[in-house]
Order: sequence, then structure tokens, then C-alpha cells
Amino acid sequence: MMIKKILLMTASLTLLSSNAIAEEIDAEAYIKYREHLMENAKHHAKGIANILKGKLQLKDNLLHHARALHEVSQMFSSAFPEGSDFGETSAKSGVWENKADFNKAAKNNQQATAALVTAAESGDLKNIGNAMAEVGKSCKACHKEYRSKK
Ligand code: HEC
Repeated sequence: MMIKKILLMTASLTLLSSNAIAEEIDAEAYIKYREHLMENAKHHAKGIANILKGKLQLKDNLLHHARALHEVSQMFSSAFPEGSDFGETSAKSGVWENKADFNKAAKNNQQATAALVTAAESGDLKNIGNAMAEVGKSCKACHKEYRSKK
């Protein structure tokens, strides 16, 4: 009787703790997710740079790349929730210690990509080049503070 009770108790405790774990954040999943977001941004930035070099007859794609960059830049902040700061990550602890400043860096990047969209809408290659340089600066500004070299 006693043993049965104890077994039951342990079983429900195990259930409780596995529920608790399920509610906790899966840091590795967030790390993977944000790395993909970042890689995605890199690929669109490269697409723009390569088109601007003039070897591709794909000027019409500049606006699509610019919009994609702007979309992805709006997801950066959300990919660094509290508790996703351990594991195979290159994010520095400052991301969580100086969250407001980190979010500001993300906001600056969003503004730069918004300006890039405006430039791409104008179709002026020089403007697009300048706006892209500003985007690059705002990516680097955040990396300088918050990303460690692997
Ligand atoms: C608000 C800060 C911030 C901004 C803005 C930002 N990044 Fe990052 N980026 C990071 C952090 C932090 C990491 C490390 C993430 C990790 O390993 O968990 C990272 C990682 C990366 C990586 C490596 C991903 C991998 O596979 O490990 C690339 C590539 C990258 N960023 C490109 C960009 C580009 C391009 C931009 C601009 C369009 C950009 N980032 C803007 C913070 C930022």
C-alpha cells in the first residue's frame, strides 16, 4: 500500500517536472533560429551587393532583396529571449544584460533597412549603394558589441 502511494507520488512529480521543462525555453532551438535569420539577412545583403556590381541583369530584384532584409531585421530582437543565452551561441552576455541597448541596435538596423527599401523603390543605384552601406554599418555596430568571434 505504502509503496504504491510512493510510486504514485513519484509518477506525478515526474509528470510535473516534465511539464515544467516543456514550458522552459529551448535555448538551442532559439540559437539555431536566430542563426538562420542572420544567415538569411547575409544572403540578401550579398544579393544586393552582387547586383550592384553590375554583372547581373537583375536590377528588378533589388527591391525584393531590400524588402526581405527589412522583414528579417524586424525579427532579430525576438530571437534573443531571456534564457536563450547558453549553448553553442556567439551572442555575448551583454545581449541580456543591456537588453535596452541591444534592442536599440536592432531598431537602428530596422531603420537602415527601411531607408534601403525607400532607396530601392526610387531605383537609383547610387542611392541604393549608399543605403546598403548604412545597413552594413548597423549590422556591424551590433556585432561589435554583442557578437563574439567563434
Ligand atoms: C541587434 C544586434 C544585431 C544586428 C542588428 C545584426 N546582428 Fe547578426 N548577429 C548578432 C548576434 C548576437 C549574433 C550571434 C548569434 C548567436 O550565435 O546566437 C549574430 C550572428 C550573425 C551571423 C552568424 C550566424 C551564424 O550562422 O552563426 C551572421 C552571418 C550575421 N549575424 C549577419 C548579420 C547581418 C547581415 C546583419 C544586418 C543586416 C546583422 N547580422 C544584424 C546580432 C546582430
